[in-house]
Amino acid sequence: MPANIVIGTQWGDEGKGKVIDILASRAQVVVRSQGGNNAGHTVVSNGQTYKLHLIPSGILYPETMCLIGAGVVLDPKDFISELDEMERRGISTKNLRIDPRAHVVMPWHIRLDGLSEKFRSGKGNEIGTTNRGIGPAYMDKYERCGIRVCDLVNPVVFPQKARATGNLKNKIITAVYGGEPFDLDMVIQEYALYGERLKPYVADVSVLTYEAYKENKTILFEGAQATLLDIDFGTYPFVTSSHPLSGGVTVGTGVGPRMIDNIIGVAKAYTTRVGKGPFPTELNDEIGETIRNKGGEFGTTTGRPRRTGWFDAVIVRHSVRVNGLDGLAINKLDTLSGIGDLKICTGYRKSNGSELRNFPPSLEELADCDPIYETFPGFDEDISACRKFEDLPENCQNYIRRLEELCECKVCMVGVGPDRDQMIER
Ligand code: GDP
Ligand code: IMO
Ligand code: MG
Repeated sequence: MPANIVIGTQWGDEGKGKVIDILASRAQVVVRSQGGNNAGHTVVSNGQTYKLHLIPSGILYPETMCLIGAGVVLDPKDFISELDEMERRGISTKNLRIDPRAHVVMPWHIRLDGLSEKFRSGKGNEIGTTNRGIGPAYMDKYERCGIRVCDLVNPVVFPQKARATGNLKNKIITAVYGGEPFDLDMVIQEYALYGERLKPYVADVSVLTYEAYKENKTILFEGAQATLLDIDFGTYPFVTSSHPLSGGVTVGTGVGPRMIDNIIGVAKAYTTRVGKGPFPTELNDEIGETIRNKGGEFGTTTGRPRRTGWFDAVIVRHSVRVNGLDGLAINKLDTLSGIGDLKICTGYRKSNGSELRNFPPSLEELADCDPIYETFPGFDEDISACRKFEDLPENCQNYIRRLEELCECKVCMVGVGPDRDQMIER
């Protein structure tokens, strides 16, 4: 399969990093197309844990090309710390490249992220962002005043652009939010050095991906965030500011849709969410707490406790449709061992008694919905050593088969532990 997309189907943290790491052993190129260091992708290999934010999850394979596409927003300071961390751990970054068109997250984006969240929180409307400046950086991109990587690495252009936009941002920070302005000379000096450091990594990712495709190399597109966090098809406004859908991959990388052969959606065997926003199957009880503790459900980027709940087939079916999924990878089935009966949400019931099969666009309509559940007998066995579907206890097999039916998509992988070898492939 030359070109595969791996994408999140819920509210993020489904284990995309693990799936990419496994598939990267058979690929030559891994490409990120959107989002930024709001992502936190965990790869566990030989007992070592790597938490990646901007660097693609193919980095553990020294010969794999790891590309950061034009649709990504890149925080150079954080990216350089990630580079240093990789090098400190003996992981080569020689095959890493960043598209010159990618937008740069500047320090004022991070400050404005915090200030606008604070402003919204007074009214109880905060999004619960990762505070990485993602929304404000994408705002500037669409406002057409953003600074791109090609500007950052240009010692003549960067100071001019940074001063012009920085002056405006200082006005907004002080006059609108009453915040502290930036000393622009210091910012320019600091970020110009980051530009120098990044220069050797800059290359046209659209061209590199297309060349790899023509040479019949296997390419993996690594989604960040997830479908229900998509700016259009997620739970707006409780979403991120990019398109984490399969459709976002082509525009975020600069390749045509005909290149894509296979689209894999990643889900957990239950549901989690960090940050604010609706979550119909959320468990605010002991079972929810047990899942959080057993599954280690704390954010990879911010450390926040993740909200937990039952598997919601309405949202995953929505993801199957909007991404055109060919298969599902279901992770963390092992976490459900020993928690008793399992529930799957099959649809939503509105207060007037009518049933919804498709995820509603309006949050008001969603608030009027209660999940409809099917209950399954659970399992107590430790499944972490299972490597074949047939080795799983019968109740586990039935649970997965029912997810398949309800989501209208084949389950091609089942995760039974965090390590790269703890995966059942079907
Ligand atoms: P991503 O953002 O989608 O890459 O996911 P994260 O890395 O943020 O969160 C997924 C967490 O679940 C990480 O800690 C993974 O190591 C872990 N994980 C992934 N798959 C499995 C699995 O099948 N079982 C268990 N127990 N943990 C898993
Ligand atoms: P990965 O790639 C889970 C959530 C934030 C917040 C909302 C907006 O690891 O799955 P942002 O900082 O993007 O403006 O925050 O989106 N969010 C994520 N939740 N996993 C992620 O990435 C996320 N990236 C953003 O918690 O609710
Ligand atoms: Mg994550």
